[in-house]
Amino acid sequence: MRFTHFTLTLVTALAAEAAPPTNSNRAAYLDWSTFKANGVNLGGWLHQEQVIDPVWWDANGGAGLLDEWDWCANLGSQCGPRLEQRYSSFITTTDIDKMAAAGINVLRIPTGYNAWVQVPGSPLYTGSQTRFLRAISDYAIRQYGIHIIVDIHSLPGGVNNLGLGGREGRHDWFNNQTALDYSYKAVDAAIKFIQESDFPDKFTLQPLNEPVDNPAAFGFPEALTDAGATWVLSYFRGVLARVQAANANTPVMLQGSFRPVSFWSPSFADTDNIVFDVHNYYFAGRPTTSANLPQFLCEDAQNAADDRFPVFVGEWSIEAASNNTLASRPRNLNTGLKAWAQYTRGSSFWTWKFRGNVPVNGEGTQAEYWNYEEYVDAGFIDAGTGQACTAST
Ligand SMILES: *[C@@H]1O[C@H](CO)[C@@H](O)[C@H](O)[C@H]1NC(C)=O
Ligand SMILES: *[C@@H]1O[C@H](CO)[C@@H](O)[C@H](O)[C@H]1NC(C)=O
Repeated sequence: MRFTHFTLTLVTALAAEAAPPTNSNRAAYLDWSTFKANGVNLGGWLHQEQVIDPVWWDANGGAGLLDEWDWCANLGSQCGPRLEQRYSSFITTTDIDKMAAAGINVLRIPTGYNAWVQVPGSPLYTGSQTRFLRAISDYAIRQYGIHIIVDIHSLPGGVNNLGLGGREGRHDWFNNQTALDYSYKAVDAAIKFIQESDFPDKFTLQPLNEPVDNPAAFGFPEALTDAGATWVLSYFRGVLARVQAANANTPVMLQGSFRPVSFWSPSFADTDNIVFDVHNYYFAGRPTTSANLPQFLCEDAQNAADDRFPVFVGEWSIEAASNNTLASRPRNLNTGLKAWAQYTRGSSFWTWKFRGNVPVNGEGTQAEYWNYEEYVDAGFIDAGTGQACTAST
């Protein structure tokens, strides 16, 4: 009897685990076509960038080094312990409480591929990243119902010549089957992470960030060549097939470099559960100033929308190319928040904590134009006060 009961229980449990979620529970999942996102990124937490926290970086063996790859290679056996210390302290539940009080309802969380898979020959550290990701996302979901975007921000070989993409000066991910195989291992691990959550309905998976195989044009559509776009598209399809097989209700967020959504959109079927992520920056490449930023923000917002799929602004900040002024910040921040909310599904600012100390053109340093936490502390945030976009801008 006992054995039979145990067997039955086991069989039932296995069946429950194996059963693909039906469309009947789709309602519990996030519908990006109606969601109003008000988010921030958690940059510099599970995936390091010198620019986000240069004092910490330099004090921990990174002086003169440009990426986490060299940082870890330089630190050797100290890399793991220092990163574990970072994971446990840079973002805590206190941050989540503060974000929730400020109205944040979505977190985009960059992770390196090394959080999900170990690649032979790479000095990048694979440790407790997913354990910390679990703890913080569980807390944000349980306490506040915050939605989590799991962002695989780098891929093997490097996706964009920047340290943040896996390796400074490299974009060897393109047309590289070995790199692709390991990328899918990372994706499979991230899918498993989401499916094993107590709240699989509170996650979106983003498998790629800013793929660039023509770095000279970084920030512009030409940054991704046609051949590069073909490679990216086949990867997107591969990821979609994997997510659909595991749980078709999980939205997949596609970041198509700086090509417009209208370039990607025709390649997908209406039934694909996708949301596009566009990144809008103003610190380089266009004649922006703090004074004219509202006009650029409005133009980008008005150009972003797609008639078939939802669009989300996954990264933006308010540093202008020249003549930055501190006093303009509340207006520019709120104009952006208002514009993204009006014309897209909303946004996530880059980033929650940003301590870059390089002087900008005009007043202040980078941190003053990229650090959302400071805006919360200063009481700046009130999207309603943002400048309205007019049809002519
Ligand atoms: C392909 O990617 C692998 C894994 O990142 C890397 O070791 C290798 O050097 C890459 N190959 C080329 C030709 O770039
Ligand atoms: C930037 O500020 C300088 C000094 O105030 C001024 O001369 C210049 O015209 C400004 N440039 C722009 C693009 O507004």
